[in-house]
Amino acid sequence: MDGVHHTLIQLLILKLLSTGVFGELSSTYMYNILGDDVNMPCKNLVYPVNCNSVGWIHLKTGSRNAIQQVSEGKVRVDSNRAERLTLKPNCSLTVHNVTSEDVGKYRCQTGNIDSLTHLSLLTISSSTPESDLKPDYPLTLRCTLHTPFGPGMCRYGELDKISLGWVDQTRADLQDVSRYHFTVHSTCDITLNVTLQREDINRRWTCQLTDKGKVKTSIYFHSTLSDEKEENSDVDKWVVIGVVVFVAVFVVITTLVIFTKRTRK
Ligand SMILES: *[C@@H]1O[C@H](CO)[C@@H](O)[C@H](O)[C@H]1NC(C)=O
Ligand SMILES: *[C@@H]1O[C@H](CO)[C@@H](O)[C@H](O)[C@H]1NC(C)=O
Ligand SMILES: *[C@@H]1O[C@H](CO)[C@@H](O)[C@H](O)[C@H]1NC(C)=O
Repeated sequence: MDGVHHTLIQLLILKLLSTGVFGELSSTYMYNILGDDVNMPCKNLVYPVNCNSVGWIHLKTGSRNAIQQVSEGKVRVDSNRAERLTLKPNCSLTVHNVTSEDVGKYRCQTGNIDSLTHLSLLTISSSTPESDLKPDYPLTLRCTLHTPFGPGMCRYGELDKISLGWVDQTRADLQDVSRYHFTVHSTCDITLNVTLQREDINRRWTCQLTDKGKVKTSIYFHSTLSDEKEENSDVDKWVVIGVVVFVAVFVVITTLVIFTKRTRK
């Protein structure tokens, strides 16, 4: 009897806390790149933890309908993403090998205060055909953060504090070098323009996301300039020519030696 009383009071306090003190959901922001495994926390669990009463819903970018991904502690089999989803013992949800399909808001329903995770994906797209990656040609790379609000949309709440930037292999900002040109479509959508040089052979162009000055994630584009391949095939050509000349000279000398010996006899 005492125990029941206790639980009732606890529930009352929790109800008060969820509606009064914490009017908002507790939000988490996650920034990832293609192929990452992402673990989203389910906060405010009632102890002892029992995930059988936990649900997870996903609201995709641009969609009005939330999709139930987990109900009563089980990943729903009718979800086509089921094999990439795992519910952990602490009721957090792991999405394996994330794709752009996974971007959006995830809400963990505990019966207590729900927790909300904003899952965003950082991408680089190159508008330069691979065959045009050679010295004196322009390279145009666009770095975009796909947020639950849409591509390059990071104007709300927490998302204000983040920014994107292009850096070199030593993590130095490219912004300060006059060779590079930037187009800022928004804080979360920036384009790098550069005329390629011979020194750019085998180079990484990195776009990094910082949150209040701390690097949260980064993605890179690898430029392999076709100039290098041409040089390689040139080298191959000379090797072949060298071998042919060597064999020819060898044959001529051998023939001469044999001929000289025969005429001496
Ligand atoms: C939940 O467990 C996973 C691993 O199973 C761990 O990575 C994650 O940090 C845990 N989350 C919390 C909120 O404790
Ligand atoms: C991740 O997903 C991509 C397709 O989106 C697939 O090609 C790749 O094999 C997957 N990787 C793993 C480790 O499952
Ligand atoms: C970037 O390069 C493209 C292709 O050469 C060019 O059309 C565009 O004007 C350039 N933009 C900037 C900002 O330099």
